[in-house]
Amino acid sequence: DDEESLLIADIKQLLIANNAVLVAHYYTSPVIQALADSTGGCVSDSLEMARFGRDHKAQNLVVAGVKFMGETAKILSPEKSVVMPTLDATCSLDLGCPIDEFSAFCDQHPDRTVVVYANTSAAVKARADWVVTSSIALEIVEHLDSQGKKILWAPDRHLGAYIQKQTGADMLMWNGECIVHDEFSAKALLKAKYLYPDAGILVHPESPASVIDLADAVGSTSQLIKAASDMPNQTFIVATDKGIFYKMQQMAPGKTFIEAPTAGAGATCKSCANCPWMAMNGLQALKESLISRVGKEVFVDPTLAERAMLPLNRMLDFAA
Ligand code: 13P
Ligand code: SF4
Repeated sequence: DDEESLLIADIKQLLIANNAVLVAHYYTSPVIQALADSTGGCVSDSLEMARFGRDHKAQNLVVAGVKFMGETAKILSPEKSVVMPTLDATCSLDLGCPIDEFSAFCDQHPDRTVVVYANTSAAVKARADWVVTSSIALEIVEHLDSQGKKILWAPDRHLGAYIQKQTGADMLMWNGECIVHDEFSAKALLKAKYLYPDAGILVHPESPASVIDLADAVGSTSQLIKAASDMPNQTFIVATDKGIFYKMQQMAPGKTFIEAPTAGAGATCKSCANCPWMAMNGLQALKESLISRVGKEVFVDPTLAERAMLPLNRMLDFAA
């Protein structure tokens, strides 16, 4: 509509005027992703967001996603200013892994290599030996396991269990989960499969093991998008945040994508999986973050940032 078009035009001008680039996650709304695409920014998974922000020449980064993504951008580019449409967009994995308890857990297991998911606070990253995202977690754990390392894994127990099953690594788990993916249900997914027997099933590994067991492809957001275009199926049932459909449709035009149902939702449902924190990234809030940084700028304690940069760079170097 008109109001939306005006906001988009304003944001485009402000990005140029501020020497800023927009870095958006696949779970943000289609309008935000389209804006990032059309302004030379990027739409990607959490690993690529980190790399893009670090390597881009713009002095100012606008991160549309959740808090840990803004913090990661700031840690990797301390000289840049990083703003977010809202600083209140957090993540249940981050909330479920407070630094004091986590640090005590690590202290109890000094013989273990500490591997944390990117969906954590800067303080938790600062306590870690490695940071991983879902697109590189399997390879990094495989690498550590081949060196005979025992692992302390946090915070996502579903992703951890999936990696443990794949690699056979010795992993001690923190008990956290993503409230969005945790809701997917194998029983409901089986009903959807009866309705669409030829559909390929794509599952993000933050989902419960029983759901992962039904998958034809398991992977990070970018890996699922690639699977949707590479696999021969014309229809897919997708167990991850519905924001991903924007890119999937773009990368696999003509194919049909169906939301995987959550428990009790029936065989098909609309907006079953939509992260409430990702959804806070609206156009108006984005525009405001480009007008005034007050209350929108990401700050990370410099001592923590310096420490957290080590395991983050270890991941980026490994992935390169
Ligand atoms: P990826 O994009 O790295 O797969 O992460 C998924 C996620 O949950 C981000 O919030
Ligand atoms: Fe966190 Fe899940 Fe939302 Fe991703 S989808 S930000 S893991 S709560």
